[in-house]
Amino acid sequence: MSTQSSEFIANDVTSNRSNGVKQMLVKEYKKIGEGAFGTVSQAKLLDGETWIGPFAIKKVPAQTEYKSRELEILRLTNHPNVITLEYFFTHKSPKDGKIYQHLAMECLPETLQLEIRCYHNSMLELPLKHIKLYTYQIARAMLYLHALGICHRDIKPSNILVDPSTGILKICDFGSAKKLEPQQPSVSYICSRYYRAPELIVGCQYYSTQIDIWGLGCVIAEMLLRKPIFQGDDPILQLREIAKLLGPPDKRFLFNSNPKYVGPLFSRPLFSGKVSQRFQKVLGNAGEKGIDLLMKVLVYEPENRLSPRRILAHEFFDDLRIDNKFVPRGSPNPVNLPKLFNFSNFELDVIGELIDRVAPSH
Ligand SMILES: Nc1ncnc2c1ncn2[C@@H]1O[C@H](COP(=O)(O)OP(=O)(O)OP(=O)(O)O)[C@@H](O)[C@H]1O
Ligand SMILES: [Mg+2]
Repeated sequence: MSTQSSEFIANDVTSNRSNGVKQMLVKEYKKIGEGAFGTVSQAKLLDGETWIGPFAIKKVPAQTEYKSRELEILRLTNHPNVITLEYFFTHKSPKDGKIYQHLAMECLPETLQLEIRCYHNSMLELPLKHIKLYTYQIARAMLYLHALGICHRDIKPSNILVDPSTGILKICDFGSAKKLEPQQPSVSYICSRYYRAPELIVGCQYYSTQIDIWGLGCVIAEMLLRKPIFQGDDPILQLREIAKLLGPPDKRFLFNSNPKYVGPLFSRPLFSGKVSQRFQKVLGNAGEKGIDLLMKVLVYEPENRLSPRRILAHEFFDDLRIDNKFVPRGSPNPVNLPKLFNFSNFELDVIGELIDRVAPSH
């Protein structure tokens, strides 16, 4: 992307750790992302006489009426697989005179989308060990977020950052995230289409954090296929793509999701054979354990989808528990896996008795 650089002084740079406020010089030197609401640039900050960074600075129009949910959530979270907010400040753009909220986050070199594209372009499969490593870390982030009641609501490969040299993964883009309150409705028109859970497609307003688990299933499948698994051309055809693999949704699922749903049901069989045979045919390179996991994650009924703690305990990840090495892309030598089992007390509480399955025995 563009390399145009800009420098400006920000007066109210707040440290997310200490809450201290300082004036700093901001030097943006590389645009790394452009989203629906703003831009992301790589930047350094001059703190006194020391340059700090690089950071990824996300710029979004400052909300005047209500506080930015993204800022609020990033201030609340602290987890190895969730992007860390280091500083935040507002600044008036010299271009349009509007005030922008700036979030300075730790910077990772790539997105999972780029990583998948890279393998796609070289017609190579992602090694299964990498798929396990990335999936595990997404599930670990979800265990943490969901226990706090936070639903990400936009899980997709471009919102997942990775460092291919270390294998570290962090979820980013909390622009759609929300703390879900039980019995409180939320909008169903969230999530990018290919990653939308079936209950959202049929208009469910009382959904749970399990919509993120569906997104996780789609991301695992995408790592295996190197393209999105369910690519519907419109919201309703999205359901048809899902029905081709899972079979038609049943009446109870539709009633529980949205009793007023009147759209098509795709009840005529779109595929022959058993569900397990279709999973085997489409996602066979996941191996036996991988298919077992996917069949428990890509499930219509949100309450029947595996929870994050049960995902972490799944046999698919035994490989990570037994063998602490992986070979990064483009490198000839194996390196140690990042820390995967350094659980906080908060995480240990959520994992509960499953800890014997999740943590390696040695
Ligand atoms: N901390 C970071 N480190 C490195 N790159 C980042 C970071 N945060 C964001 N990016 C890059 O910027 C892109 C856009 O960021 P983000 O997804 O947060 O913004 P967005 O405006 O919500 O985007 P979209 O609307 O496309 O989802 C990401 O896909 C990623 O490529
Ligand atoms: Mg995004």
